[in-house]
Amino acid sequence: QPISIIGMPIDLGQGRRGVDMGPSAIRYAALQQTICDLGYEVEDLGDISIPSPESLEISDQNLKYLHEIARVCEELAGRVSGVIERKRFPLVLGGDHSMAIGTVAGAAKHYQNMGLIWYDAHGDLNTGDTSPSGNIHGMSMAASLGIGHPLLTHLGGFAPKVRPENVVLVGARELDFGEQQLIRDLGIKVFTMHEVDRLGMARVMEETIQIVSNGTDGVHLSLDLDGLDPSDCPGVGTPVPGGITYRESHLAMEMLADSGILTSAEFVEVNPILDQSNLTAKVAVALISSMLGKKIL
Ligand code: ARG
Ligand code: MN
Ligand code: MN
Ligand code: MN
Repeated sequence: QPISIIGMPIDLGQGRRGVDMGPSAIRYAALQQTICDLGYEVEDLGDISIPSPESLEISDQNLKYLHEIARVCEELAGRVSGVIERKRFPLVLGGDHSMAIGTVAGAAKHYQNMGLIWYDAHGDLNTGDTSPSGNIHGMSMAASLGIGHPLLTHLGGFAPKVRPENVVLVGARELDFGEQQLIRDLGIKVFTMHEVDRLGMARVMEETIQIVSNGTDGVHLSLDLDGLDPSDCPGVGTPVPGGITYRESHLAMEMLADSGILTSAEFVEVNPILDQSNLTAKVAVALISSMLGKKIL
């Protein structure tokens, strides 16, 4: 399937500058050529235009930049949806994780029942009421499940985008109190680092693939680079030690490629300002290669 790259240089969903340069950093790491070399037809649709935080005011400390984020996510949703209409695979580059509200909305429009893999150190299952920070990048999974502020949950004109039984969280190791409660209440499947260590990544991904493909007609991968260990991916805004390794992540992407279930993907939270020699963007490109079926032999 031909691939369409979309850049989402958003940093309004969190408090540190630099993540707006994520899409550039990933492109600089030779994304397009790498995908082309794998034999795909690939186009780059450029970036969604995002206002800079300096030009804006925060009106609600519990939902920072709510209106601006909703507006640009609506635009991203339209762009993603258009790509799928053209029978192409949307590959979205970020940008902070608030963008997933838009990506998931655009993709979910095309499926009755979409599966969702959330590869992340965090749950991003907060609402304005439970968030310790007011940062919307910590609320995007909740919004996709239909929980939170209506401007976020009803983006694209419908809610929810996904059902709890069709989502899996992989790599979690920092969950706020309200997020833990929500996980229990909704019965969301979570493979924390405890399960990754105990079961091994092969088993974790077998079960993940089974869950998100059971009864679904599409699967979106939302990969936050902070799901990986900060030693492999230092260029992220909210690093948490004890993460998924580079090797485990490649295995996960290779297993997803072999499964053939993915219908869209996004790679988010790359912050080259906090990075060393663009390492995190290079890891993103390497993982995208494996996700798209790159074989060593
Ligand atoms: N749980 C914290 C919060 O709500 C951190 C969220 C980090 N999210 C992310 N996409 N990196 O603020
Ligand atoms: Mn910011
Ligand atoms: Mn995240
Ligand atoms: Mn995260």
